Amino acid sequence: MVDTKNQYLKIKKEIDAAVIEVLESSMFIGGKKVDQFAADLAVYNDSRFVIPCANGTDALQIAMMALGLQPGDEIITPSFTYIATVETAALLRLKPVFVEVDPQTFCMDATALEKAITPNTKAIVPVHLYGHAADMEKIMDIAARYNLFVIEDNAQGIGCDYTFSDGTVKKTGGIGHIGCTSFYPSKNLGAYGDGGAIFTNDEALAMQLKMIAAHGQSKRYYHDVVGCNSRLDAVQAAILTIKLKHLDDYIAARRNAADYYDKAFAGHSKITTPFRAAYSHHVFHQYTLILNNTNRDALNAYLASEGIPSMIYYPVPCHKQKMFDAFGGNTFDLPVTDWLTERVISLPIHTELDEEQQALIVSKILSFIQ
Ligand SMILES: Cc1ncc(COP(=O)(O)O)c(C=O)c1O
Repeated sequence: MVDTKNQYLKIKKEIDAAVIEVLESSMFIGGKKVDQFAADLAVYNDSRFVIPCANGTDALQIAMMALGLQPGDEIITPSFTYIATVETAALLRLKPVFVEVDPQTFCMDATALEKAITPNTKAIVPVHLYGHAADMEKIMDIAARYNLFVIEDNAQGIGCDYTFSDGTVKKTGGIGHIGCTSFYPSKNLGAYGDGGAIFTNDEALAMQLKMIAAHGQSKRYYHDVVGCNSRLDAVQAAILTIKLKHLDDYIAARRNAADYYDKAFAGHSKITTPFRAAYSHHVFHQYTLILNNTNRDALNAYLASEGIPSMIYYPVPCHKQKMFDAFGGNTFDLPVTDWLTERVISLPIHTELDEEQQALIVSKILSFIQ
């Protein structure tokens, strides 16, 4: 699905030098490489504060802890997302309230969101799924009216520009009260190991997030709140500092590959190509088709037999995962989510795809479907 090896080979010199610099410095945890990366990412995302952490799942958990959410508090989130979005809420004994997604954007349906609000609702967790922005203007408006926190799950959306109706453009992850992202190697900004970051523009919240990520400590060996241990290591920070400089080019390459697929599948009655809402600059973390009147799983297996990877993100929506039975997950009725779950298939999309590879992928898909 991705080609991190060839991507690395193009920047090998810079990366190798940066890694060796960390090894020679022996400053493996914290230090100037981590500070530099946090500062660069804050500028890139136009966020006042960036708190690096160990992975995107931790970022979400720390965000929920920093907002002081208490057991039983409700958080509203799509079910059509990666488990990490909601697992963190369950871990803190919060109550996940699952809502539908828009069948075109795959992101939280704002109307469904408003209907799901109760006196126990404390936070909304929209997900910029596959690299397409959730409708943040509507979501922030609802949050303001009901006095709710917004934590953006930007693990798949880093670099995505959201355009408000007045023309203001903001990066996803920098719009809600807190934004969270992941540097899992296959992400648009991928490390060579695990990594994550938390964004906020609120100084008090930034202090709290930083403290929680570092054992709740306000200064060394003084622990004011219950925290955890979540650090981005210096080797990953050094790698990410270099890769961040290439992020916009990486996104452009993904968008080019998406354009190719779009053209190749245009007008095909059995294939719906990814929708691009005017407010979202799609960064194509995934290129995901909706298949109509087609045996999706058979196509998935056929492509595998031809040596072509394809993935189902995700085969079971969160509300149907056993994990959430204890939270009443199976009591939610989400027909749009179920409908999508049965029909989506994601194709290889990355910075190293060439037209020859894409032509082969397209021809195999079309020959199967026809
Ligand atoms: C939507 C979403 N949220 C959260 C995460 C969790 O990130 P990580 O794997 O870095 O913990 C991921 C990545 O896998 C993701 O895709």
